[in-house]
Order: sequence, then C-alpha cells, then structure tokens
Amino acid sequence: MRLIAAASIVFILTIAFAVSGSVSATSPQPDPVKPEPVRAAGSDDGQAIFRFDTFGDEQLWTDVLRMHEAIPTVDPATALSVGLKVDVDALPSSVIEALRRGDVDLTDPRVTIELLRLNAVVGVKGTVNETGQLTSVGITCALCHSSVDNSFASGIGKRLDGWANRDLNVGAIVALSPALDDSTKAEFNTWGPGMYDPRHHAFDGTNIIPLNSPSLPIVIPSIFGLKGVGFETFTGDGPISYWNSYVGVGQMGGHGSFSDPRIGLSITQEPDLVTPKLAALLDYQLSLRTPKPPTDSFNREAADRGKDLFRAQARCSTCHQGSNLTDVSSGPDRRVPFLHDPAEVGMDPGYAARSATGRYRTTPLRGLLQHPPYFHDGSAPDLLAVVNHYDSLFGLQLTAAQKSDLVEYLRSL
Ligand code: HEC
Ligand code: HEC
Repeated sequence: MRLIAAASIVFILTIAFAVSGSVSATSPQPDPVKPEPVRAAGSDDGQAIFRFDTFGDEQLWTDVLRMHEAIPTVDPATALSVGLKVDVDALPSSVIEALRRGDVDLTDPRVTIELLRLNAVVGVKGTVNETGQLTSVGITCALCHSSVDNSFASGIGKRLDGWANRDLNVGAIVALSPALDDSTKAEFNTWGPGMYDPRHHAFDGTNIIPLNSPSLPIVIPSIFGLKGVGFETFTGDGPISYWNSYVGVGQMGGHGSFSDPRIGLSITQEPDLVTPKLAALLDYQLSLRTPKPPTDSFNREAADRGKDLFRAQARCSTCHQGSNLTDVSSGPDRRVPFLHDPAEVGMDPGYAARSATGRYRTTPLRGLLQHPPYFHDGSAPDLLAVVNHYDSLFGLQLTAAQKSDLVEYLRSL
C-alpha cells in the first residue's frame, strides 16, 4: 500500500462522518455498504464475548501496564508490523476508499487511535474521549486467536476467528509498557512473533505475580476444530472453560476468579466478569470449524499414500487416533486425560513441568497448513521437520519419498 503523508485519517474520518451523517438525515435511501451492526457483548453471545469482551482487563492493560500511554506513540505501520490486524468490516466505506487511494498516512500515530475508536483493531479495545485521547485500553480473546484474511491488504481484512495470529508479537507489544523494568522488557522481547508464555506470570487484579522463570514461550495455537477433543492445551490441564478461565483472569487480567490448587494459583475478584460468560464462550469456540486446505495446496495421491504410512509403518495413528487424531480421551476414565511423558515423544520436559499435568497431550491435527511452526515450543519449523523428528526418535527409517508423502497427508488435514 502507498503511504502518503499528506492527508491524515483524522481529517478523512471527520469528512466521512459528516457525509454519512448528512446522508442519513436527508436521504431515504438505505446505505448499501453499511457494515453489520456490532453486537454488544452479553452473557449469551459467545462471538461478541470472544471478539469484544475485555472482562474488565483494563485493570491490567491500562491501570498497571499503562498501555494507553504507550499506544499513542505507535503508528499503524508499526502496529501492523508487530502483527496487530485490522478488521475491514469495522471501517466506514469512506475510510476504505481513502485507504485504497493511499490517502491515509500509516505513519501517523493518530490513525492508530482512530482505528481503535472505530473498534477496528482485532482483539484490542480502546476508549477514546471527545478530544481524541486514548483513555483506556484492554484486550480480548481475539487478539491471539483471530487473524484476518488479508483481503484488503496485508494485515487488513475480514476476521478469521479461531485462527492463531502467528504474526502477533505479544512480547514486543507488552514491552512497550512504560511500567516494566528493562530486564522484564528484554525478556518479553525474546519471545518473538506467534509465541506467548502463559506460565511466566499471573495478574491477581492488583499485582503481577511471578510464576516461573526464565520464560518458556509456546506457540499460540489455533482454536478451531476442538469439538469432541475433550481436553485442551498442550498439557491437557482441563476442558476448554478451565483454560479460558485461567487465561481470562490470570493472563488477560480480567476481573474474575480462578483457582487451581495443582499449580498453587488462586485469584478471587468480585464481581466475577469472567465465569458467567464461559458457557457462551465455549459454545462459540466449539462452533469454529477447521478450514479446509485449498485443493491445490497438496497432492491428493501422495496424501493418500501418506495416510497409509501414517496408519501403518510410521505408527503415527497409535497416538493420533480417532476422528480428531488424538488419543487424549482414550483413557479408562473419560474425565481423566490420557497424556504422554515428554520423553515418549522427544519433547522438552521444561514447559510441561510448569503445568498441572507435567505431560503432553497428543495434539489433535487440524488445519496444519495454517499454523507453522509445530509442537508446543515451535521446535519444528515445517511439516518435514515434524516427520524427521519422529523418524529419528522412533527409528522409522522412512525414505525421502515416504517422508514427502507423509508431509502431503499432513498438509491435507
Ligand atoms: C496473549 C495471547 C492469548 C490470549 C489473549 C488468549 N489466549 Fe488462548 N492460548 C494462548 C496460548 C499461548 C495457548 C497455548 C496454551 C497451552 O496449550 O498450554 C492458548 C490456548 C488456548 C486454547 C487451547 C487450544 C488447544 O489446542 O487445546 C483455547 C481453547 C484458548 N486458548 C482459548 C482462548 C480464549 C477463549 C481466550 C479469551 C478468554 C484466550 N484463549 C485468550 C494465548 C492466548
Ligand atoms: C507416542 C505418541 C505419538 C506418536 C507415535 C506420534 N505423535 Fe505426533 N504428537 C504427539 C504429542 C504428545 C504431540 C504434542 C507434542 C508437543 O507439542 O510438544 C504431537 C504433536 C504432533 C504434531 C504437531 C501439531 C501442531 O499443531 O503443532 C504433528 C504435526 C504430529 N504430532 C504428527 C505426527 C506424525 C506425522 C506422527 C508419525 C510419524 C506422529 N505425530 C506420531 C504424540 C505422538
């Protein structure tokens, strides 16, 4: 996209609102390009909760981290470069036109504030007062677990809920906080895009409590295709709502309660703005389907051969079994997850040791093309690296052609 320093979006938006205001006042014609109205977050609307509910986490992002002071220095080009996404459906048509013409100055931080005022930054909610000042900021689930289809430009498009934001550099964003000391900033800056460490600290409503050090960032996973899986997270700590509560309260900083004696964490905050929303949030997450890979993105015949290998010689299906390709619910008691010791799958035990189970869940394989790198720590940059990992771990002695067939099968999932 062309960057023109001349007209600022503030000006364009002023025009846009003036125009649309006068149109609706004088013309009986309905506006054909009006976006779908944004539904207010309520306890019965999982999608709105997922996209727009901060659960009161402004108490962390504004009151403690003071991100509302840092964000006004960040121009949109920088915001896009740390992986923040813009929801094109939230932009008035006049702004879309201005962007198309290159009349929006993406190096002007005031544009960032305008985008927040329009509620167009995926997963970030800002409050902007009449004088154009950002007075508070909070985050939603969509920050990490939604992306956009880039249909307008890179980083700008229609929302893709459930798709991991693999570009999002949470560490770099949080490190902008004026409230953190240099060593904490330096640590967060090592995480890199698409990674986050949910075991490093927790927020109890007042203080950031250290949990584990040094940080061991893990891959932000996609959360589509989880229906019927049973236990969530890489370490199978509990069902979806357990983890939603863990993150909503302790990581996002929402005003609510979470307690798990297994990891020695107990946070109580009344009123609880998280727990009553978990059911609707769960329904919405379970409704998110795995995207089908484009038919031209893999070779069907090779994938068929790879499927046979997966089930026989390569022994993948001993663990990746059933319709979700995981054995997590195959134990004798359906309420207890079936997990694997790190050594069994050649994984680093460090992260698991910080979880409630100490072990890893067989990841349900879905939409793999969409979210490299693979394994909880991102240690496999691509699917061939995954296959090579198992080939040497289990001494499978697969030929190069077999490995490539197996990769084609994984690409087809
Ligand atoms: C700051 C980034 C971030 C935010 C915000 C966030 N998550 Fe996550 N989420 C993660 C990471 C990282 C994991 C991986 C944790 C693990 O598996 O141990 C994860 C795991 C999950 C999983 C498990 C996926 C699986 O394959 O089992 C679900 C479901 C989920 N998150 C839903 C949510 C919901 C709902 C919210 C809002 C309440 C939310 N997340 C907010 C980063 C985030
Ligand atoms: C002993 C059980 C077991 C076997 C056998 C096994 N896996 Fe896995 N698989 C796991 C576990 C556990 C994980 C999660 C490891 C992690 O994230 O650290 C995993 C993760 C994966 C992932 C990463 C998914 C993601 O979204 O990051 C892929 C891909 C995968 N396995 C493919 C295979 C293939 C291909 C084979 C056969 C060559 C295979 N697995 C054999 C247990 C197994």
